[in-house]
Amino acid sequence: MLTIRLTCPVHTLDKQLLLSENSQISTKTIDTLISSNRQKFYKTYFLSEHGSVKVDLINFLYESNYKVIFADQKNTAKVLSILEEVHLISPILESLDYFKNYDFYTYKHILRVFALSTLISLNLLTNWKDLFKEFSSGPAHDFGKICVPLDILQKTAPLTRKERYILEHHTLAGYVLLGYYYRDKHNFNAKVARDHHERKNSSGYPRGIKLRDRLVEIVAVSDIYDALISPRPYRPISFDNRSALEEITTMAEKKQLSWKVVQALVALNRKSKPQFSVCKVSQEKRGSPPPKNNYGVIIESENNYFRENYK
Ligand SMILES: [Fe+2]
Ligand SMILES: [Fe+2]
Repeated sequence: MLTIRLTCPVHTLDKQLLLSENSQISTKTIDTLISSNRQKFYKTYFLSEHGSVKVDLINFLYESNYKVIFADQKNTAKVLSILEEVHLISPILESLDYFKNYDFYTYKHILRVFALSTLISLNLLTNWKDLFKEFSSGPAHDFGKICVPLDILQKTAPLTRKERYILEHHTLAGYVLLGYYYRDKHNFNAKVARDHHERKNSSGYPRGIKLRDRLVEIVAVSDIYDALISPRPYRPISFDNRSALEEITTMAEKKQLSWKVVQALVALNRKSKPQFSVCKVSQEKRGSPPPKNNYGVIIESENNYFRENYK
């Protein structure tokens, strides 16, 4: 494991400190932390039976920004039948309650990333074991955001460099927390939490590694797409569908993402619903990204703005 230092502390929802700021994330640190967990076992519960998850998910999928993908009733039905199969440990379900109460955007985003990554993986993956791992990773991918202050998650102005580090901390925090709860540093949900902002050409974070895992990449693409087509605090107007798909296509052109996963997303967005393997992805750019987008804009001081490439 690549050793990396934490920029912020990792704590549980009830504020139990697991690792302090500046801790090194190494095999030894994680093994010690896991063996310090006295709770041997966390009960699992069905996601569909938790709170209002099922009704909320149905409502989120009927919103206009998903109208092409989920206007197809078969897609909605597939996602809802998978939802009945997914069971998660109680800390993940408690994090959903937390986001629902305090950061509704993240709650909605987590459920929609579950739905979209489920659909893409049904098209791309054949191994049931892989599929099942994939289904349960969507609801946990941003788990580490419980360690990011709400005023940073909801900030509308450009972030300072320090705030950006704190936001990016959600990846390692999620890895540490999920490794701890599952008592397994190789747990797939923990891996997705850590690596879903990595890119194939090493341009991502937190480690800047080459993203090679197809399953993690399916969550990464779903995550980017949902963020683009949703209004965000830092960008009040969302990308329209064409511009969002063009942004993602550009990322594949830059070798940040693989064409196959992008092709599967584009196929879902075609009204004719072609097989992803025969779906041609246009590289023509005709969309118009929305104005007032503060994504990736960093403010060092009041007079000094600059943009970084975080995608
Ligand atoms: Fe994330
Ligand atoms: Fe996300």
